[in-house]
Amino acid sequence: MMMMMSRPTLPSPWPFVIVLLVIMVVMPLAKIVVEGCLASDREALLDFKACLNEPYLGIFSTWLGDDCCRNWYGISCDPTNHRVADINLRGESEDPIFLRAGRSGRMTGSISPSICKLDRLTALIIADWKGISGEIPGCITSSLPSLRVLDLVGNRLSGRIPPDIGNLRKATVLNLADNDLSGEIPASIVQMSSLMHLDLRNNRISGQIPSDIGKLTMLSRALLGRNQIMGLIPSSIATIYRLADLDLSMNKISGWIPEQLGKMPVLSTLNLDCNSIGGQIPESLLSNTGLGILNLSRNGLEGSIPDVFGPKTYFMALDLSYNSLKGKIPTTLLGANYIGHLDLSHNHLCGPIPIGEPFEHLEASSFDYNDCLCGNPLRTC
Ligand SMILES: *[C@@H]1O[C@H](CO)[C@@H](O)[C@H](O)[C@H]1NC(C)=O
Repeated sequence: MMMMMSRPTLPSPWPFVIVLLVIMVVMPLAKIVVEGCLASDREALLDFKACLNEPYLGIFSTWLGDDCCRNWYGISCDPTNHRVADINLRGESEDPIFLRAGRSGRMTGSISPSICKLDRLTALIIADWKGISGEIPGCITSSLPSLRVLDLVGNRLSGRIPPDIGNLRKATVLNLADNDLSGEIPASIVQMSSLMHLDLRNNRISGQIPSDIGKLTMLSRALLGRNQIMGLIPSSIATIYRLADLDLSMNKISGWIPEQLGKMPVLSTLNLDCNSIGGQIPESLLSNTGLGILNLSRNGLEGSIPDVFGPKTYFMALDLSYNSLKGKIPTTLLGANYIGHLDLSHNHLCGPIPIGEPFEHLEASSFDYNDCLCGNPLRTC
């Protein structure tokens, strides 16, 4: 009896079998449950879909089944928490679904505020659908704090830009171009401290550019053209070190061009055409060797063209047409490294057109409609 009691018992295999079963069967099941999208995210997406109508491509017919993280066109989830992270719906794409349909997309309806329930959203891209109307849901500014990209370009959105847009501190891209937005640029926009790309072109935005726009220190593109923006060009713009592309064209901007704009270190494109800007062209603008495209056409610029070009001058386009510029064509232009497109037409310039290499490829249209310019390609002096 004693012997039997003390005999070491062999471990039963069952605990191991049970552990193995848990690892092989139960864990993968649990994993599937975790990977599926949250029911509330799926509901929010279905509410969003219910407000839209996309008849040609059938992208919403892929929004089937419980797991909105799997095979729902345009939806992607965060792999760690399985929350909906991106909505990426572009109406113009090389995607097979577009190639099969042989056309670009079109969608009508509106953007449902139900997207504000997707509170982990980092990208909201609903671009180039041409027909989506209604307002931008105001709740995005309070409910989507992780938003990095807000791209609603190319629709028919109306109303105002949400006044609290500045709450989107992580947003690097704000693209609302080619819509029907009105109202002013919200003052809070200067709090979007991560913003790199701002595009509000081709809307009906009025009011002035916030004078403290210089607070947007990360900005590299500020595109506000084709709106009804009035007032002055704030000189604080010139403090935005990274700004490479500034487009204020086709607005109602008045005043004059701040001299500091010409001293910006990386500015390469400046479009101020079609405004009511007066005064003289700052010398700094024409002597800035980094500026490759300068369009000051159709303003009220006066005085003469500063004679400050040099061997590093490299303009792909220099358009000073339709102003009130007087005097001669600067002779230093002859020493320029490159002048691609030059337009000095419709001014009050006078005197001989300089003879030299940079001018040889230019046609009469570059010089037409001045007071008394002469020489090749116009009439001889
Ligand atoms: C400059 O702007 C005017 C007026 O908006 C436009 O007609 C012209 O084509 C532009 N010039 C260049 C070189 O793009």
